[in-house]
Amino acid sequence: MNIVILAAGQGKRMKSALPKVLQTLAGKPLIEHVLATALSLQAKSSSNSPIVVVGHGAENIKNFLAEAGNRDSTFENVRTVLQREQKGTGHALLQALPKLDQGEATLVLYGDVPLITKKTLADLLKIADGVRGQDSALALLTQHMTDPTGYGRIVRDMDGAVAAIVEEKDASSSQKAITEINTGIMVLPTASLKKWLKSLRASNAQGEYYLTDVISMAVRDNVPIRTTQALAEWETTGVNSRDQLAALERIYQLNIASKLMEEGVSLADPARIDVRGALNCGSDVFIDVGCVFEGLVTLASGVRVGPYCVLRNATIGKQVSIHAYSHLDGASVGESSSIGPYARLRPGSKLEHDVHIGNFVEIKNSRIASNSKANHLAYVGDSIVGSRVNIGAGTITCNYDGANKHQTIIEDDVFIGSDTQLVAPVRVGRGATLGAGTTLTRDAPPNMLTVSRAKQVSLNWDRPEKKSIPKSAIKSLTKTKSTIKKAFVVKNKN
Ligand code: UD1
Ligand code: MG
Repeated sequence: MNIVILAAGQGKRMKSALPKVLQTLAGKPLIEHVLATALSLQAKSSSNSPIVVVGHGAENIKNFLAEAGNRDSTFENVRTVLQREQKGTGHALLQALPKLDQGEATLVLYGDVPLITKKTLADLLKIADGVRGQDSALALLTQHMTDPTGYGRIVRDMDGAVAAIVEEKDASSSQKAITEINTGIMVLPTASLKKWLKSLRASNAQGEYYLTDVISMAVRDNVPIRTTQALAEWETTGVNSRDQLAALERIYQLNIASKLMEEGVSLADPARIDVRGALNCGSDVFIDVGCVFEGLVTLASGVRVGPYCVLRNATIGKQVSIHAYSHLDGASVGESSSIGPYARLRPGSKLEHDVHIGNFVEIKNSRIASNSKANHLAYVGDSIVGSRVNIGAGTITCNYDGANKHQTIIEDDVFIGSDTQLVAPVRVGRGATLGAGTTLTRDAPPNMLTVSRAKQVSLNWDRPEKKSIPKSAIKSLTKTKSTIKKAFVVKNKN
């Protein structure tokens, strides 16, 4: 099968520097949705890769396709043809003509109709299939709409057979009353298509070469025309403006929410979840309002995600609680751990089971073994942390010297007092205790208390008092003097 995706249009109504098909829905460009569905229809071995007709923003789209091919090999062989001037849908398809395999049917898709499903396209391909020995039929995907304004209308003859498609701008008032519209998606017999496209004329209200004019040519040539409809209207909804894009995004998200609930996930509000990638859940997962999931996220059974969390490319183990406003990116969290509220796990964070990460704690590129805790206000970066370690409030691993990153190693059963700085590279031995406020610049030996702290002193001290001074006197005031009556030093108990 040949697949051609029309994507040369500008999308003026988006009022954007970006070509329309690169606007994103669920975090992915519109064209990527269409391509993913198109590719899912083809056998992996097919040498007949999809062709995208590009025009407006052609370079941007080509760059996107190259990047997509690098990231995902299924996009690797997507081809493009350039339509220098946008002279209509028929003219767009004409540009792809030399690349079409005449022995196979041609499926036409639109780059700005992102949510068409594999099932609907498979149904369309089925009705296009010719009886053995005959040329295949022309299959049209149509839609019944309460408000058909703007679309091409399907004109049928007395017997109900399709006779033509008439564009809104060329339609008579009785034709405008027709509510069955052309979605634009169709399957065409390629040999006939080649002939038809070459005889298209732009003699219509818009002065364009309409692909839809091939319908009356098919009628003339006795090519059977068959129609089918998508299950839902959103499948064939095109994106022309920002409000249509936002409306389609909500439909897409509600569909995902329904699917998650069918699979046994509890959502506090199905209207307040955004999945921009793939979210895989075990049983009895609960997700509170306002959460965003990006990339590939896996939540094992019994996971609870509090309100307003963002999870990107994260793997979360069984029975983990992620509390409100936490941000996890490229992280894995082991069973029965507790994260947040207000925690941030950055790429390379690997937490084993029963780890507690509390509020305003940031972890980056670090492994934290089981039963360890960092409950308040800490930064752990480029570190290896053992089991049963307690990281006190305000602890910072100083991993960056302004030029290079260095590693901190904290062995099992270490206790780190509050407000400690570990200047990497540095190692804290098994069972060591670091006194609060320590700035650790050398390795701390196992099982000992290490502390680096200025000696504590207590002085007699009269705190200066605020005096009310007349403005006129301010100039003559030079110095104020504090008096130290007596001082004594108290030896630090440590
Ligand atoms: C088209 C159909 C109309 C149908 C409607 C469905 C024609 C003549 N009309 O109208 O029957 O109801 O879609 O949405 O086909 N494109 C190009 N090059 C061009 C023109 C368009 O690549 O020169 C691409 C656009 O990027 C877009 C698609 O073709 O992806 C449709 O173009 P658009 O201008 O939106 O067609 P409509 O006037 O909406
Ligand atoms: Mg359109």
